[in-house]
Amino acid sequence: MQTAPNKDDRLIVALDVPDVLSGLDLAQRLGDSVSFYKIGLGMLTGGGLALARELKTEHDKRIFLDLKLFDIPATIEAAVRGLSGLGLDFLTVHGDPHVVRAAANGRGGSDLKILAVTLLTALDRADLDACLIQPGALPDLVVERARRAFLAGADGVIASPQEAALIRALPESQGRLIVTPGVRPTGSATNDQKRIATPAAALAAGADHIVIGRPIWQAPDPCAAAQAIRTEIGSPAA
Ligand code: C5P
Repeated sequence: MQTAPNKDDRLIVALDVPDVLSGLDLAQRLGDSVSFYKIGLGMLTGGGLALARELKTEHDKRIFLDLKLFDIPATIEAAVRGLSGLGLDFLTVHGDPHVVRAAANGRGGSDLKILAVTLLTALDRADLDACLIQPGALPDLVVERARRAFLAGADGVIASPQEAALIRALPESQGRLIVTPGVRPTGSATNDQKRIATPAAALAAGADHIVIGRPIWQAPDPCAAAQAIRTEIGSPAA
């Protein structure tokens, strides 16, 4: 794999495949059409960290490690300090201020960006009630959690495309990243995603990066699917 001459890292592909071999195979097929990959907990036992390092060092890809860390501050700080030595690009933690502060400390002077998860999009109001999370409409809680995460030192937040514009309107979001999953190219299946938007709409709402998984890795021709998304967001052909 060569470095893309027309790199566009706004598209992040979720490598939600089970192991290193299938991840490498997919990345080979995608070639220069994708320069940024997300690796998550589903691949942890399948060699996810090794794949992250290989894609970074051997193939010059940017890497988003989606581990959604949550623990006491000392443990978060130690975990993030260790991870920041891998030279990766983005890491998710839960957006609780004590977690974000500890992650920012652990990251130290490295280039690793700490992204805060506001509220998991799979949760509805009944789930939040079960967790004793205060009353209020979900979008309001998401925006306030984003604001507090920024104040605690987050470099960015994860948000659905619907919330991206509200978060972008916060003064605290200036110079910070908004990364949106729940993105579906025009005409593709929604799968289990509920609050979706097209790639262009998510970017127009203020997202810096869009995360797309199944519409690419489940496509009969993943490279063509990625190229179609690049076209949709006005990126030059790779
Ligand atoms: O296949 P799909 O495009 O739905 O994948 C989206 C990716 O983003 C998955 O890896 C999923 O776990 C992740 N994600 C999400 N919603 C969030 C946070 C992460 O869909 N709120």
